[in-house]
Amino acid sequence: MKVLMLNGSAKANGNTYTALLEVGKQLEKEGISYEIVQIGAKPIRDCIGCGKCNENGCVFTDDEVNAFVAKAREADGFVFGTPVYYAHPSGRILSFLDRVFYSSSQVFRFKPGASVAVARRGGTTASFDCLNKYFGISQMPVAGSTYWNQVHGRVPGEAALDEEGLQTMRNLARNLAWMMKCFEAGREKGIGLPEMERGVMTNFIR
Ligand SMILES: Cc1cc2nc3c(=O)[nH]c(=O)nc-3n(C[C@H](O)[C@H](O)[C@H](O)COP(=O)(O)O)c2cc1C
Repeated sequence: MKVLMLNGSAKANGNTYTALLEVGKQLEKEGISYEIVQIGAKPIRDCIGCGKCNENGCVFTDDEVNAFVAKAREADGFVFGTPVYYAHPSGRILSFLDRVFYSSSQVFRFKPGASVAVARRGGTTASFDCLNKYFGISQMPVAGSTYWNQVHGRVPGEAALDEEGLQTMRNLARNLAWMMKCFEAGREKGIGLPEMERGVMTNFIR
């Protein structure tokens, strides 16, 4: 089984990476492989609501959104990590994930996910809440830890000094691994996915 992670920082080796790496190292101890996709510093388009998403994903092909979806198809669980900017996730991870989920949310359904927020000091829980919204609307069970999933640090490397933050990351990995193993055991026992009601879209109450 594999966990796909997304680092929403432009810095490949910053504090968000340190936090995700701690999750990854613990996942490997649980027998689960991982990959960290770096969102990087290149421009990322916003979703423009064109409604032209298709079986190939988003119509814009000049960044890594559709490549990420292809990896997500093969993954069994997810961790999205972001630096905190003005008490919200980085603009680039929101632009990226809006397009990933608007074009391809079915790829994520019934696979567990977790978000991680990394900050110098404040805005972590607001950012954490924001990223968790992608999971809730996509029928994804959410993995928690022994604290909200946050790590503190300012300049790259400082996150390694946040012992409680790193412990939270390791416990998150343990919980995520446990959920993934439980789901696999359920599948092997023949427990199918729930059937959903579809067809009603009430945009406002008359
Ligand atoms: C534009 C900008 C806004 C920031 N806003 C906050 C903030 O609201 N709260 C906070 O604690 N840290 C804030 N920071 C600090 C970063 O969250 C912190 O340095 C973090 O460790 C960066 O993660 P990275 O190394 O993975 O990029 C901000 C940094 C930048 C560049």
